[in-house]
Amino acid sequence: MAISPLILLSVVAFAAAEIPVASQSWEIPPIVNSWVPTDPGYYVTPVSKPFTLSGVTNWGRMNDSTQEYNVYRDGGGSCSLYNRTFWVYSDSSAYSKTTGLFLGAASNSMTIAMDFNQPNKLLDFTLLPWTGWEPAIPFTEEEAAVSGGGDTGCRYALWTNTNCAQLTETRAMHFFKVQKFNNPSNSTYYGNTMAIYTMDPVNNVITIERPRQYWYSNTTYGYGNFAALVFNGMAYLYGIDTTYSNNYDIHLAKVPVDHETDMRYYRYYDSAAHSYSSTMPVPTERRQWAAVVSGTDTFSTGSVFWSEYHNAFLMVFYNDLADSTFRVLSAPSPVGPWNVSSAVLYDSVPGPRGYNYGGTASPVYYQQPGQVAGKELLLQYSYQDTKHTYPVALQATFV
Ligand SMILES: *[C@@H]1O[C@H](CO)[C@@H](O)[C@H](O)[C@H]1NC(C)=O
Ligand SMILES: *[C@@H]1O[C@H](CO)[C@@H](O)[C@H](O)[C@H]1NC(C)=O
Ligand SMILES: *[C@@H]1O[C@H](CO)[C@@H](O)[C@H](O)[C@H]1NC(C)=O
Ligand SMILES: *[C@@H]1O[C@H](CO)[C@@H](O)[C@H](O)[C@H]1NC(C)=O
Ligand SMILES: *[C@@H]1O[C@H](CO)[C@@H](O)[C@H](O)[C@H]1NC(C)=O
Repeated sequence: MAISPLILLSVVAFAAAEIPVASQSWEIPPIVNSWVPTDPGYYVTPVSKPFTLSGVTNWGRMNDSTQEYNVYRDGGGSCSLYNRTFWVYSDSSAYSKTTGLFLGAASNSMTIAMDFNQPNKLLDFTLLPWTGWEPAIPFTEEEAAVSGGGDTGCRYALWTNTNCAQLTETRAMHFFKVQKFNNPSNSTYYGNTMAIYTMDPVNNVITIERPRQYWYSNTTYGYGNFAALVFNGMAYLYGIDTTYSNNYDIHLAKVPVDHETDMRYYRYYDSAAHSYSSTMPVPTERRQWAAVVSGTDTFSTGSVFWSEYHNAFLMVFYNDLADSTFRVLSAPSPVGPWNVSSAVLYDSVPGPRGYNYGGTASPVYYQQPGQVAGKELLLQYSYQDTKHTYPVALQATFV
């Protein structure tokens, strides 16, 4: 008997799709903010405009003013799907507005931007009274089993410090560090995990799937932890060599859109050879020659995106975890060549603890119909007052 092509096709499709290790759907508020995706050019001479700012507006604390709780959180990043702009934050805690008592926490939470003209306005849709302190990015069963409270402080955390990258109109990828706490003050990095966001714009539902517990374990570079971006049907994932380069080197992986959940399609860049390899480099020593960026700066958090205004890809970043200065590098393509002499973009004002952290940038808010993408940026960082940490939004305008 001949096997019908239909059966063959479904067998192939089944073999290619991995069953996610964790999956969770969230209903999202039907809030739409228009933005226009730009089509990056590719130029030999990238920078056509200086990195001088003509003004910065501080919009203050980003939060949900309708929240029943006072919510504090840190880290985070954003991306847009189908004109909905999401913010995903790391450790998020809720306190009673009346008594100030701690009520609960999740290792991450997801919100939606209310209004691009008021970037401090968010609407929470995961850290709500009835969600049971579930993290927005679902735990595996094993992770959930040790993260269900108790007073040992033993838990898993899924943290991001960069933007998600839009793959299609309705799908994005986002990388999270998987930290395992042995007690409240001691955690170990186990690797990163990839979350795939799939947006259903008709029913206003976002589904979050983790294809594997660890996409890259802690024995490899954390591709995607520093930044991710999609250009010309290809996702580029940037990871810092934190172990051997003291945060000076950034390494790069790429994967074609639609194959991002299949490890066999990933390729790894070697800048000395100007070529990609299917073999993942094992970081047993510093590999500066292979790094896509290595210069006079260290890297902590940041994001990479196309700026139509600058006619260049920009990398906006903080040098260090205890930092407040936004810096910028530029390149004609995601692969570079990156100008490794950074320019200072803006010194954000730290709180009483002396520094901000978790700085990222996004052009999305100022990419509305009629605007030139990259002329204005939304800068975001974690601000610490005497007790708590919360995200702050700045609107930066270039000359
Ligand atoms: C997003 O908004 C823009 C501007 O209003 C519109 O042209 C575009 O079709 C919208 N995109 C989607 C996916 O709805
Ligand atoms: C939101 O932030 C503002 C400014 O810090 C603060 O006054 C307000 O209480 C916060 N609201 C909530 C619900 O956290
Ligand atoms: C954290 O825990 C690890 C593993 O239990 C241990 O090796 C390390 O010394 C601890 N670090 C601190 C600062 O307590
Ligand atoms: C890497 O992760 C493993 C768990 O998969 C953990 O046991 C180990 O301590 C971690 N290594 C380092 C150097 O933190
Ligand atoms: C690199 O960037 C710096 C700072 O913006 C700038 O002064 C310099 O001209 C740039 N170099 C090149 C080769 O573009």
